[in-house]
Amino acid sequence: MTSLQDKIIATAREKNAAIYAHTYQPQEIQEISSVVADSLELARRSKDGPETTIILCGVHFMAESAFILAPHKTILLPNPDAGCPMANMINEQELLTFKAQHPGAPVVTYVNSTAAVKALSDVCCTSANALAVVKGVPSKEVIFTPDKYLGSWIQEKLGSEKIIHLYPGFCPTHQRFKEKDVLAMKAAHPSAVTLCHPEVNPGIRRHADAVMSTSQMIRYAGEHDENEFIILTEIGIKYPLEKKYPDKKFYFPDMKVSCPNMKKIALEDVLNSLTYGEHRITVPEEIREKAFIALDKMLAYK
Ligand code: 13P
Ligand code: SF4
Repeated sequence: MTSLQDKIIATAREKNAAIYAHTYQPQEIQEISSVVADSLELARRSKDGPETTIILCGVHFMAESAFILAPHKTILLPNPDAGCPMANMINEQELLTFKAQHPGAPVVTYVNSTAAVKALSDVCCTSANALAVVKGVPSKEVIFTPDKYLGSWIQEKLGSEKIIHLYPGFCPTHQRFKEKDVLAMKAAHPSAVTLCHPEVNPGIRRHADAVMSTSQMIRYAGEHDENEFIILTEIGIKYPLEKKYPDKKFYFPDMKVSCPNMKKIALEDVLNSLTYGEHRITVPEEIREKAFIALDKMLAYK
């Protein structure tokens, strides 16, 4: 730990604040966090955890979800510019237009979305439970927004059980994997198990042995006897994987796939958050109440 990290941990203790980090955060941020998890676990913990002040080191929609689920808590995002381009690919009007094109179809919205879009949705999901959520919707036709690749994976898994209308959003970071790099890694490490995040496109996904969220990848590597893994998701996950399983090998493409927004939070920002109570994330109550219904339903799915 550096002296700045020690100072942050001491200040958090003094202020009775908890630091939560997504698995894509820089290593130095994960090191000072009491919770390091995927979007689903961060949402659950924000709602049910004992802390009343949470410094959420992730992107804006994660802090917004934490506030929607726990409005009595103080939710701080250390850098207000840490957004998610996918969440900004659909707004309320665009969702209303899409809904009008598929009348009667319930809306399943990936948490990588704004509060206003969640408020117009029937239920939310994360990459960890999207399949179960869509399966659980009591309608054959479903609108899935905003990630067309996550939605296309669910469609592939559910086949004729559901007709999924895909909104054309995507994660620019997860589109940076190249098929030739994946094939080269598989050839170089023939015994490795290939795990991919469902935000990658089908051309990459078809080379994976399993598709899962980031926390699921971490659990999978621990629960399986294999010692080598090719990991197709954002590079931040390398740190928790190698820390937890020092005897296993994790391979990533040479060209590091890094989310620029996840890397916008620096240690200095976290200290400022703790010292000055910056940057408080809230949602207008009429939107929060509706978004809460969709998000809270999501928490019932594993
Ligand atoms: P997880 O659902 O694994 O947290 O990843 C989603 C993501 O891309 C976060 O932005
Ligand atoms: Fe958004 Fe993709 Fe970054 Fe996740 S990795 S925050 S989906 S841009």
